[in-house]
Amino acid sequence: MPASIIDGKAIAASIREGAAVRAAEYTQKYGRPPGLAVVIVGENPASRVYVNNKKKACAQCGIYSEEHALPGFCTEDQLLDLVRSLNDDPNIDGILVQLPLPDHINEAKVIETIDPAKDVDGFHPINVGNLMIGRPCLRPCTPAGVMELIKRAGVELKGKRATVVGRSNIVGKPVSLMLLAEHATVTICHSRTQDLPAVCREADVLVVAVGRPEMVRGDWIRPGAVVIDVGINRLPDKKLVGDVAFDEAVEVASAITPVPGGVGPMTIAMLMNNCLDAAFALRG
Ligand code: GUN
Repeated sequence: MPASIIDGKAIAASIREGAAVRAAEYTQKYGRPPGLAVVIVGENPASRVYVNNKKKACAQCGIYSEEHALPGFCTEDQLLDLVRSLNDDPNIDGILVQLPLPDHINEAKVIETIDPAKDVDGFHPINVGNLMIGRPCLRPCTPAGVMELIKRAGVELKGKRATVVGRSNIVGKPVSLMLLAEHATVTICHSRTQDLPAVCREADVLVVAVGRPEMVRGDWIRPGAVVIDVGINRLPDKKLVGDVAFDEAVEVASAITPVPGGVGPMTIAMLMNNCLDAAFALRG
């Protein structure tokens, strides 16, 4: 029997609806909506699309958003000053600096300047450290979205073998910590892993975030495994595919996320949740 499809689009829509309810409660209680500042530097076309989508989601949920667009030639100090002014802005609860930044700007320094309480990307070392030691924190949106998909698909993680392919700071490492916190036995794989197909085949839950189109084949998947595909890759013929060969994997897995319509829509939905978590937490 082919795998059931985990419908990220529908799950993300229901999360945004929940966020809208919480945003209305916040607005009623505090007399202003929760506020997100989105900072974009330069003219990266992909960043422009992401930022527009984030602003659109805020509008849908009743979250105030403002965009700060700096030219690609701005100085690091100008960007740091902007971040500091947003840290001090009482109408702003969340700050998101869209990455990547131009080469002359130190990304780590910018992230470390964001007030950790407003760090809705969950990239500040304070939030990363709190995630590591299992304390409450703002969690990065894409891995938080992966966990929500697993949860809403009714998958029990306790005692299961979870394999994560990819070790990026944005997805692979944080999702591994989140799976561990749910009592999975976690293996992190990467480009140097020996016999990657064999390691993947051990997984009850396989999370793939490597950015290589259809790298994970059907015969890498344990029959009945749950497969979460974080990849979004555009092929030369313009088709969008994940990091998993979907047509093969769907015949082996018990549940799988499609691309598009799987993890993709979850990132912005979880960002809305983080904005609300930050806004309420800032009020104590
Ligand atoms: N660029 C690609 N993904 C992300 C993300 O999740 N947050 C930010 N700020 N920039 C990104």
